[in-house]
Amino acid sequence: MSPYALTRTLPEDATGAALRSDVLAGLTGSPKTLPPKWFYDARGSELFDEITTLPEYYPTRAEREILVARAAEIAAATGARTLIELGSGSSDKTRHLLAEFPELTHYVPVDVSESALRGAARTLLAEHPALAVHALVADFTRALELPPTPGPRLVAFLGGTIGNLLPEERAAFLTAVRGLLSPGDSFLLGTDLVKDEATLVAAYDDAAGVTAAFDKNVLAVVNRELGADFDLGAFEHVAVWNAGREWIEMRLRSTVAQTVKIPALDLAVTFAAGEELRTEVSAKFRREGVQAELAASGLELTGWWADAAGRFALSSSSVPTP
Ligand code: SAH
Ligand code: AVI
Repeated sequence: MSPYALTRTLPEDATGAALRSDVLAGLTGSPKTLPPKWFYDARGSELFDEITTLPEYYPTRAEREILVARAAEIAAATGARTLIELGSGSSDKTRHLLAEFPELTHYVPVDVSESALRGAARTLLAEHPALAVHALVADFTRALELPPTPGPRLVAFLGGTIGNLLPEERAAFLTAVRGLLSPGDSFLLGTDLVKDEATLVAAYDDAAGVTAAFDKNVLAVVNRELGADFDLGAFEHVAVWNAGREWIEMRLRSTVAQTVKIPALDLAVTFAAGEELRTEVSAKFRREGVQAELAASGLELTGWWADAAGRFALSSSSVPTP
C-alpha cells in the first residue's frame, strides 16, 4: 500500500485551549451549550459510524443513493484532479465519488478526528494505490492551509454536516469555501432536507440508544480532557424539532439538581433538575435557502440532485464567470 501524508495544522495545545474556551463559554452561558465538534474523539467517531447504519438514520443512505446514481455526472461536470473533503470522517461515501473520477490524482481529507483520518486513508489507499492522499487534521471553521495540488479542485462537504453550524457560522464558512475556489473549481455540498417531524425526531433519537450514547460522549470528552466529573447516568438524551428555525436540537437533560466540577477551568457548574444543555443543532434545508446562502457567499448553484424520496440533496456550485 502507498504511504499517505498526514499534517496536523493545529498547534500542539490548540485543541486543549479551544476545548477549554468552548466549555467555559458554553457552560457559563444561558442556556448552556457545547459545540458539536467535541463529539468526535475516537469513540465519538465510532459511534457516528454506527449511527449511519441505524434504520432510523436515513441521511447517509439517501446521500449514498444520490452519489451512486450521480457520481459520474458530477465527475464529468467538474473534471477535478484534486478532491478536498471537509469533515470527511470515515470517507466511506467518498468511495462512490472516487470510483467515477478518472482524472483524480489527489485526495485531501480534512477532519478534527485523527483516528478517522488514519482509518480512511488506509482503506482508500488499499482500493486506490495510485492516489496521493494528504490528510489534514484541522478545524474546517478556521483558515485552512491546503497542500499545493493540481486543479481543477472539487471541495466536498458531505453528510449534511453544514447543518451542524449555526446560521452565522454557516455564512462565514461558505465565504471561506468561496475563498478556496478558483474559476473552474467546484463545491459539492450535502444538505438534509426539511421533512415531517416524526421522521426527523426518530433519526436523532433511535430505539437502540446509539445517538444517546453519541450525545453523552461529549461529556466523556470533557471528563477525560478537563478532569470534569460529569455523571453520564445523570443526563438523558433529548431530540427536539424546532419548527421555527427548521433544525433538530440535541440536548442533554439533567435528571437531578447537581453540581459538576471542571478542575482544568477551576469551575463548578450547577444544573437544576430538568435543565437542558444544547449539544448540537442539525439544520434541515430547502432548495431556495441553499441557493440563497450560496449566493450570499458569492457561489452560484450549478447542479441539484435529490434522492428518489426527496429526503436529502447534493448541490454543486462554483465561482460565477464574469
Ligand atoms: N462526511 C462523513 C462524516 C460526517 S460526521 C459522512 O458524511 O458520513 C462529521 C465529521 O465532521 C466528523 O468526522 C467530525 O470529526 C468532523 N468535524 C466536525 N466538526 C469539525 C470541524 N470543526 N472541523 C473539522 N472536522 C469536523
Ligand atoms: C455529522 N452530522 C451531519 C450529523 C447530523 O445528522 O447532524 C451528526 C449527528 N448527530 C446525531 N446524529 C448524527
